Amino acid sequence: MIQKSVTHCVPEWVEVGSVENIPLRGARVVSTPIGDIAVFRTGEGEIFALRDRCPHRGGPLSQGIVHGRRVTCALHGWKIELFDGVAVPPDQGCTKRFDVRVEDGVISLCLRAEIAKKVCRSAEEENHVSGHA
Ligand code: FES
Repeated sequence: MIQKSVTHCVPEWVEVGSVENIPLRGARVVSTPIGDIAVFRTGEGEIFALRDRCPHRGGPLSQGIVHGRRVTCALHGWKIELFDGVAVPPDQGCTKRFDVRVEDGVISLCLRAEIAKKVCRSAEEENHVSGHA
């Protein structure tokens, strides 16, 4: 039986703010120890979360244009699927996707346990949700 590092893989949900703080077709950035995560809200009100780095040259996807269930990177126009982080062909590549849930209007991201603890700690020290409309 393999038990090594099991506790490091346990997912944990971390509250990152209210849906109402993200404009329709907009995004907010959540700073974490593993880098910034962009939380998107589509025109239909769906919430998605991706690493805030474009698979092309690392541009901030949170600064892109949200349309349908995609975001177009503001730097060179690559389109990224919000539900899985994959670039729309003919472009190739992907950025990490994070599971999201919304309860009573509050957004939570699924992060690994040890990362979640650090996010929670930093949230107590400072307001860790910063925004880019
Ligand atoms: S960095 Fe996003 S399209 Fe080039």
